Amino acid sequence: MTVPKFALIENTGAALGKSRAEVVVVGTLQGDKAVTLAPGAEAVDETFDGSLAELLATVGASGKAEEVVKLPTLGKLPAAVVLAVGLGRADGDGTVTAEQVRRAAGAAGRALAGTARAVSTLSAVDLQAAVEGTALGAYTFTEYKSEPGDAPVAAVDFATPAEGTKRAHTATLKAATAIAEAVIIARDLINTPPNDLFPASFAERARKLAEANDLDFEVLDEKQLKRKGFGGILGVGGGSSRPPRLVRVSYKGPKAAKKVALVGKGITFDSGGISIKPAANMDHMTSDMSGAAAVLASVVLAAKLKYPLEVTANIPLAENLPSGTSYRPGDVLSMYGGKTVEVLNTDAEGRLVLADAIVRAAEDDPDYLIETSTLTGAQMVALGNRTAGIMGSDEFRDRVAAIAQATGEGGWPMPLPEELRGDLDSRLADLANVTGHRWGGMLAAGIFLREFVAEGLPWAHIDIAGPSFNTGAPWGYTGKGGTGVPVRTIAAVLADIADQG
Ligand code: BES
Ligand code: MN
Ligand code: ZN
Repeated sequence: MTVPKFALIENTGAALGKSRAEVVVVGTLQGDKAVTLAPGAEAVDETFDGSLAELLATVGASGKAEEVVKLPTLGKLPAAVVLAVGLGRADGDGTVTAEQVRRAAGAAGRALAGTARAVSTLSAVDLQAAVEGTALGAYTFTEYKSEPGDAPVAAVDFATPAEGTKRAHTATLKAATAIAEAVIIARDLINTPPNDLFPASFAERARKLAEANDLDFEVLDEKQLKRKGFGGILGVGGGSSRPPRLVRVSYKGPKAAKKVALVGKGITFDSGGISIKPAANMDHMTSDMSGAAAVLASVVLAAKLKYPLEVTANIPLAENLPSGTSYRPGDVLSMYGGKTVEVLNTDAEGRLVLADAIVRAAEDDPDYLIETSTLTGAQMVALGNRTAGIMGSDEFRDRVAAIAQATGEGGWPMPLPEELRGDLDSRLADLANVTGHRWGGMLAAGIFLREFVAEGLPWAHIDIAGPSFNTGAPWGYTGKGGTGVPVRTIAAVLADIADQG
């Protein structure tokens, strides 16, 4: 799927009077007494002789976040409908956050399905947030539907903010579109069902993306993985008739000062293996490659935005199935780099493929390592469905967490308590893959990964078990299914590293 056709339009009555849009989107705010219009709606309000807020209030608008109210224009504008979307409450001095705009734009983007052309005035408040929110809200995945239903809005003109040059607005529109397109690359991969998306087919899709964006591409098949000693990836992938892969996609930017390694968990389906999962909701494990999708999309985005960095996505791909060739509880795996791991639970497979990929990633001698994975159900127990758990080296973890919050994706710093390390001791091997108890399951997985991170390398582990896949109703700019989290966080961290080192 792709983004609608986007353009810029001046935020004046004259420009709106000439527009061919069918719908004009305005923002509303929740006031103490009544609904008010958000900044950007002035020109539309003028065509209603200043009575737009009152009219909206009459038909029940309150301005609460994501509320959608439609009003006929009765010939006051060429557009037949004003679509008013709630931003919620402004803070004391009347400002709204980027995330309020993004979510409102997302709700409007969803409500615009079936529309050929719309104008959005939310962009007058925050152009980047309005573009991202509209594109992501409009996203649908209908590849497998015989009757796709209403098509997403085909074209949107964004009213420009009063401040800034045309040149700057054009650059912002371009960057925001690229960011939304990257999130959509990840969503499309996640939403593709596991019978069609397996290690080799994921690798082929990565190859196509790499070729289209002039990136270096490398893939190891099962024979090469064996020769090089990738025991974690081979162990996990051994139960499937569709063998594992290790994909690497690299971008080398102009004047690249820093090198960033990305690692993403690519389990194309996680049945649990011999330690099989219960049947209820096992289908959600189609999304167990969300980390892989996010890091692939992120390296493509780094190239599109020409970050002055070197970025390599390391993507271990395997399907975790029970069969006569599966790895078993009790096996000892010899991992890439030589450490040995006793497998006590074949459903703790993510950390095994990641350990191999993390060791491989360090061979490039990166300045930073960002790893992301749908790693533990315990992440959702601790933080819910919308807040990623962020672990790693203290400083870099806190930096990534602050950026995750600023992007609106969300994420919270979590510790790696030292006492859990002893619980991973193994009778036979250097390490066991689980602790044997439930406590701090997300943190124990982080502690396991830390054993494979090169000494002194600043690193962050982002557990996205909940936030990567929306099993509930659509909200804001997030539909059902793959969300694309944490693509925007990774992009913002890369931008920050390009800027600050
Ligand atoms: N892919 C799962 C984690 C997961 C669960 C992601 C639910 C999204 C939704 C992971 O491979 C897993 O099975 N983890 C186990 C670890 C346990 C065996 C220590 C878990 O969380 O139960
Ligand atoms: Mn599992
Ligand atoms: Zn898994």
